[in-house]
Amino acid sequence: MPGRNLLVTGALPYANGPIHLGHLVEYIQTDIWVRFQKLRGNTCWYVCADDAHGTPIMLKAQEEGITSEDLVERIGREHRADFAGFEIGFDCYHSTHSPENRELAAEIYRRLKAKGYIEARTITQLYDPVRRMFLPDRFIKGECPRCGAKDQYGDNCEVCGATYSPTELKNPVSAVSGATPVEKETEHFFFKLSAFASFLREWVHQPGHLQPEVAHKVDEWLQSGLKDWDITRDAPYFGFEIPDAPGKYFYVWLDAPIGYMASFKRLCREKGLDFDAWWGPDSDAELYHFIGKDIVYFHALFWPAMLHGAGFRTPTAIYAHGFLTVNGEKMSKSRGTFIKARTYLDHLDPQYLRYYFAAKLGPGVDDINLNFEDFTQRVNADLVGKVVNIASRCAGFIKKRFDNRLAGYLPDPDLFVRFLEAGEEIAALYERREFGKAMREIMALADAANQFIDEHKPWVIAKEPGREGELQGICTEGLNLFRILAVYLKPVLPKLAREAEAFLAIEPQDWPEVATQPLLDHVICDFKPLLTRVDPAKIEQMIEASRESLALAPREASAAEPVAPEIEFADFAKIDLRIARIVKAEHVEGAEKLLKLTLDLGGETRTVFAGIKAAYDPKTLEGRLTVMVANLKPRKMRFGVSEGMVLAAGPGGKDLYLLSPDAGAEPGMRVK
Ligand code: MSP
Ligand code: ZN
Repeated sequence: MPGRNLLVTGALPYANGPIHLGHLVEYIQTDIWVRFQKLRGNTCWYVCADDAHGTPIMLKAQEEGITSEDLVERIGREHRADFAGFEIGFDCYHSTHSPENRELAAEIYRRLKAKGYIEARTITQLYDPVRRMFLPDRFIKGECPRCGAKDQYGDNCEVCGATYSPTELKNPVSAVSGATPVEKETEHFFFKLSAFASFLREWVHQPGHLQPEVAHKVDEWLQSGLKDWDITRDAPYFGFEIPDAPGKYFYVWLDAPIGYMASFKRLCREKGLDFDAWWGPDSDAELYHFIGKDIVYFHALFWPAMLHGAGFRTPTAIYAHGFLTVNGEKMSKSRGTFIKARTYLDHLDPQYLRYYFAAKLGPGVDDINLNFEDFTQRVNADLVGKVVNIASRCAGFIKKRFDNRLAGYLPDPDLFVRFLEAGEEIAALYERREFGKAMREIMALADAANQFIDEHKPWVIAKEPGREGELQGICTEGLNLFRILAVYLKPVLPKLAREAEAFLAIEPQDWPEVATQPLLDHVICDFKPLLTRVDPAKIEQMIEASRESLALAPREASAAEPVAPEIEFADFAKIDLRIARIVKAEHVEGAEKLLKLTLDLGGETRTVFAGIKAAYDPKTLEGRLTVMVANLKPRKMRFGVSEGMVLAAGPGGKDLYLLSPDAGAEPGMRVK
């Protein structure tokens, strides 16, 4: 049977901020499904891109004093690195600000227009007379026209829940400049979604296109009537100028999903694939979009209508997932639970999160809760305590007693066959995105393998002379069972699977291939621990770091003091920061602001004059640790030579806060 052809996408993350753990629910879920498809021998392409356009990105770039192009280029690089860190295996990661996308967006627009699906209308919008730009709803604040609540956005009131148009807000203010917006007329193009009502009604209800609960929601939207969609934004805007309308741009959400096609088009060029065979109206390839539940409207209504209207194929299915909560609550910067992908990677093994999300994911749109106690417990119990344990229990004997050679037989061939046969059910679960159930099946097998070892007690047999053959057989069986589990876990834990293959000295395993023969009379490599236990202290540190990064978040920081121009790492590396113990702190005769500090740098002693007198009583400083710049050129002061500088934050005077390291840091350690 020839394999299936699948094209799979994850939603395109906005290029105005970092990837966080919420995003990763989606990209990990999709990556697992894609890896599963590939492992089964199907042709499957996973494409994504940065969603580069729109007002927020334009304004952020202006705030940083760089071009929008430079901003999206930088964020693109960061996103790619974050995804790579989590082993998200995109076949192509592109950008919506690309030549392919510009061309496809123009082409789709031309086709829709030729068929009469685009209509020009004059509308009235709020305009910022200072910044000379039309204001998106989110950039207007004012009083709710219904309940009068202050400081509400231009589209809905967070206090009473009213929805309205921004021109109805009372006392509106532009969030961009603070100016009072004025009403101004402009001509916009609308996509006539209403013309697709009957097409969509049919499409939405064809089984398989949408999850049942999603179809239900979409049906409500269909019932309440489809509004035509404004696809235009006026200059200044970061996006694609509409071909026949200078000064008018495609709204970001028009060219964003076209970015799926653009990314694939780029892949076609790299791999010599036939774009039309995948996107043409008669394509028999399968097309899947994985998205969050917040963007269903765009994907289940606008997108199929656009594709259909422009003569392309429509999706095979759209799979929506729920939102991530952390410890039962919305991710929060102040609680330190708004965790960036990068911060996670700085502290914890990405495999933990891949497994944890897999264990929690199902085919529905329920929210997913990341509870750190549960996370620790599950990863440690399942991956370390069950799966890796099988290998580590058997590998030692095989190495010490048999020179890493496996036996020529399996003592319990039925058990081996049972493991093989479980594969089809596990595969069916993966296919249906029942990852949580798949993980439970796999862990039940891991339990069975451990039970086999417990019953045969290799550690006892090892001490009984003449039972070498038995010992070798038991460990050989254990390692063969482990090998099968490594394949079943491969979509979730590609790194662990690779390392298991290296340890077992075998070629990369495909899923069908596992069903061949057990590994017998085969020489393996030395066992190295494949995964260590989750260290709860690391989780604490990650949460702390996420809390800290709040104070440094560009928006907050720039409110007080703009962030200094970017520097190269080499520039930073010149600064030698050290942990120092304040061994002595004294007042200085005649000095208004200074304290004289004697610092221990782990053997070396330095004298530093620090302007912290108003903030600290010297007695309270003695004995504590702080951070100092150790290679600052000594400076002659009125009261003596200062040989460095201690680090503190705050505006000054009483409001100064010395830095201190976490427990465990020692004087002299370099801070980097
Ligand atoms: N740029 C749009 C998507 C365009 S697709 C043609 C967008 N970007 S996003 O960065 O806000 O979100 C990207 C994806 O991540 C979306 O599917 C979104 O639902 C998902 N998630 C963002 N935050 C999330 C959580 N906290 N939890 C789970 N998924 C989340 O929307
Ligand atoms: Zn209100």
